[in-house]
Amino acid sequence: MAQRAEPELKKSAIVLAFASIGLVYTVMLIGVFLSNGPIHEKGIACTDWPLCPNGFGVPEERYLFEYVHRLVAVIAASVVYATAIVVPSDIKKAKRAAVIAAVIVTAQVIIGYLTVITGLNPLVVASHLSTGITVFAFGLLTFWWAGIWRKYWH
Ligand code: HEM
Repeated sequence: MAQRAEPELKKSAIVLAFASIGLVYTVMLIGVFLSNGPIHEKGIACTDWPLCPNGFGVPEERYLFEYVHRLVAVIAASVVYATAIVVPSDIKKAKRAAVIAAVIVTAQVIIGYLTVITGLNPLVVASHLSTGITVFAFGLLTFWWAGIWRKYWH
């Protein structure tokens, strides 16, 4: 019986999938620091949207972590989208996981917005944390299923 050809391991997909999980992890670290950090008592200093009052300029110290959280979040979401595009469709599981991660990261940015405009409603904050973890989980599955294991764990 003819053997089914293994889908080719695509380096750009692996690199992007890895960058996605690294960046999402970083946004999460900054987010937790934001909610428990020393800058202000509550996790919200900048109530403007989408940018803090300084716009694209250098943020004031009290806005710094929120500014960085939003900035890295935008970069992370862009890399998650790029991963969903670049992962080849013939690696079905990886493609599916990457597309799900892209959909959920969009929801996460919207929930981030709600976190700000509701002034840290507990339900919204809880959703923001759990959705962030879900994005990370699907990013990890993408990386795994994109085939890195085939190359290094044989
Ligand atoms: C990739 C996208 C994002 C991820 C993975 C992410 C993740 C997180 C995490 C894990 C926390 C800590 C939650 C906690 O300790 O309870 C957090 C906090 C926070 N995030 Fe995000 N976030 C993202 C995007 C955004 C965006 C776009 C905004 C919009 C401004 C935002 C606003 C906030 C705020 C205000 C907090 C502080 C909440 C608090 O004080 O409890 N996040 N984020």
